[in-house]
Amino acid sequence: MRTQVGIVGAGPAGLTLALLLARAGIESIVLEDQTREYVEHRVRAGLLEQNTVDLMHELGVGQRLAQEGLQHDGIYLRRRGRTLHIPITELTGRHVTIYAQQEVVKDMVAALLERGGTIEFDVTDVAIHDFDSDHPRITYAVNGARQELACDFIAGCDGFHGVCRSSVGDGYFTAHEYTYPFAWLGILAEAPPATDELIYAWHEHGFALYSMRSGTISRLYFQVPADEDIVRWPDERIWEELQVRLASEGWRVNEGPIFEKGITPMRTFVCEPMRCGSLFLAGDAAHIVPPTGAKGLNLAVNDARLLAAALSECFQDGSRSRLERYSDTALRRVWRAQDFSNFMTQLLHDLGRGPFDRKLQLSRLEYVERSQAAATSLAENYAGLPPGEDF
Ligand code: APR
Ligand code: PHB
Repeated sequence: MRTQVGIVGAGPAGLTLALLLARAGIESIVLEDQTREYVEHRVRAGLLEQNTVDLMHELGVGQRLAQEGLQHDGIYLRRRGRTLHIPITELTGRHVTIYAQQEVVKDMVAALLERGGTIEFDVTDVAIHDFDSDHPRITYAVNGARQELACDFIAGCDGFHGVCRSSVGDGYFTAHEYTYPFAWLGILAEAPPATDELIYAWHEHGFALYSMRSGTISRLYFQVPADEDIVRWPDERIWEELQVRLASEGWRVNEGPIFEKGITPMRTFVCEPMRCGSLFLAGDAAHIVPPTGAKGLNLAVNDARLLAAALSECFQDGSRSRLERYSDTALRRVWRAQDFSNFMTQLLHDLGRGPFDRKLQLSRLEYVERSQAAATSLAENYAGLPPGEDF
């Protein structure tokens, strides 16, 4: 088998890339080692920058997003019962939208298949070969039968634990990595959100976040130790802790049946460069941000946007100049998102560094409250800088 671009991974990065390439008349095949059912139901984050929403509309995959997405004009920062509203739209002219990542995946899979694209789900033994040449290959198995896919380029969109980045020999990539000594315990609950905007809360016990999925479903997270065992958190204890961390006078978190519970590690990671020969990395395969800045999905989509433009230019007129610049260009936004996500993380979590550090955080929060410049800086990073080359 042969295709122009072999894409490993059917997450937001791989699917956005396949859709953009199809629109430019470039063939691709997406290989995914999970089932369609699994990728369409995997619970992840769900905050889309306007850049991502705009791109979904441009790709014609935004119909359900327009109906079901929850558009927000701001966020709340809460500390010691005091709530500060950051009016993101007023400060930046841009919105953010709540729409779960698995819904983005569903919409993109459906559109790609409807347009005649190929996604091979449930493949095994994916391996990439000869990516230091102009004739890379991907081998894999379908129901135990070995297949080989020859391509012009390979896009490694296979997430942090994927096979593409780790196939490159030691010493080629530089990895910048930091793992925080805490994690997020996240829940989905059948409870109407008691807030119109997301609430990011600083608390002596640690961080908490009040988010949502619809008018009847709440999504909440709170900081726990990195090695926390979920069995220590029966539902009643979760609600008690959320009531404490999110407390505000005369107001309560709405409780309801919890139907999803999980712990996510807090890691920050960048792999440089995002390319090795004919292999290009995009999304979580190349970088992980702590979720406090809500950037992971948006960065994945942005990488795909840049890579698709560079590949299109190459297939159109043979010019490789954009492909040569892909890594540097993508990394500019990646590092901005890293800085912002780490800023938000270090502003709001108990980092275990003692009372001096906690006082600095409170002072920083007060500064955001008192200074329009500080609030605008936070707002424009949260909303996402408009696409350029690359800001
Ligand atoms: N072969 C084929 N597919 C693979 C392999 C493999 N060896 N390893 C992983 N995959 C698949 C995963 O099953 C997943 O569907 O690659 C896909 C990668 O998708 P994501 O993990 O969603 O990564 P990405 O598309 O970069 O999107 C980033 O996901 O983790 C969140 O917070 C992150 O929102 C961000 C988004
Ligand atoms: C979510 O709704 O899942 C969400 C929102 C904002 C974040 C992280 C996660 O910063």
